[in-house]
Amino acid sequence: MTTGLVPTMGALHDGHRALLRAARAENDRVVMSLFVNPAQFAAGEDFDRYARDEERDRRIAAEEGVDEVFAPSVEQMYPAGFSTRVEVAGVADRLEGEARPGHFAGVATVVLKLLHVVAPDRAYFGQKDAQQLAVVRRMVRDLDVPVEIRSVPTQRDADGLALSSRNAYLSGDERVRAASLHRALLAGDPSLIEGDVEYFTVVDRDTFEPAEPRAGAIRVAAARFGATRLIDNVVLEQR
Ligand code: PAJ
Repeated sequence: MTTGLVPTMGALHDGHRALLRAARAENDRVVMSLFVNPAQFAAGEDFDRYARDEERDRRIAAEEGVDEVFAPSVEQMYPAGFSTRVEVAGVADRLEGEARPGHFAGVATVVLKLLHVVAPDRAYFGQKDAQQLAVVRRMVRDLDVPVEIRSVPTQRDADGLALSSRNAYLSGDERVRAASLHRALLAGDPSLIEGDVEYFTVVDRDTFEPAEPRAGAIRVAAARFGATRLIDNVVLEQR
């Protein structure tokens, strides 16, 4: 009897569905966690306005064959006196870690708690958040967590824009321009981005250290379209 865990913050879209389907295909039992984790949002980020619709998320989970939705309250996850934080050095320090101080400690802490509470055989993460995936893999190895981390390819709209709950913040014009992020990543040309580029670089997929553009490395980027900050990446192929 195997259990697959899909951690989410809700506001489910087809990217989440792809994770749920992978978990459904590979396990006897599928648990989806639904928790907007305050610890991974910095002051001034979108914690308060993050889309919350538990009824809709539960309906989608049921459609995808989820056996159990684990939707704890903030008080359940972080009761009074909570004072532990999981810091993954190195891989969590660069790029997103630099742009969002404390973000990956918040992610690592909550993911470790979810892995302990649910105790799955496998846990599913999207390639969309490549650095998060690398941080989780590093933590699981370092702390001997008995779970297999599985990654699922990035799901995209027809014009290439990676699905994200944050795409809902884009105006019509910003939504059109946002598709340039993926085109630029594919072409390896940051000047194609029709927004403000924060970073555009090639890294090793495990350590997130700068790397030569070679097969297995990934090209990662962050850019702003209006007030909305989007990230994306492509895995480089053998030429
Ligand atoms: P959330 O943003 O809800 O994403 C949940 C999972 O869905 C993550 O593993 C993410 O990489 C994956 N995902 C999002 N968009 C995707 C896409 N377009 N294609 C494929 N997978 C996609 O990431 C988080 O929540 C949180 O940090 C969490 C891991 C739940 C910890 O709080």
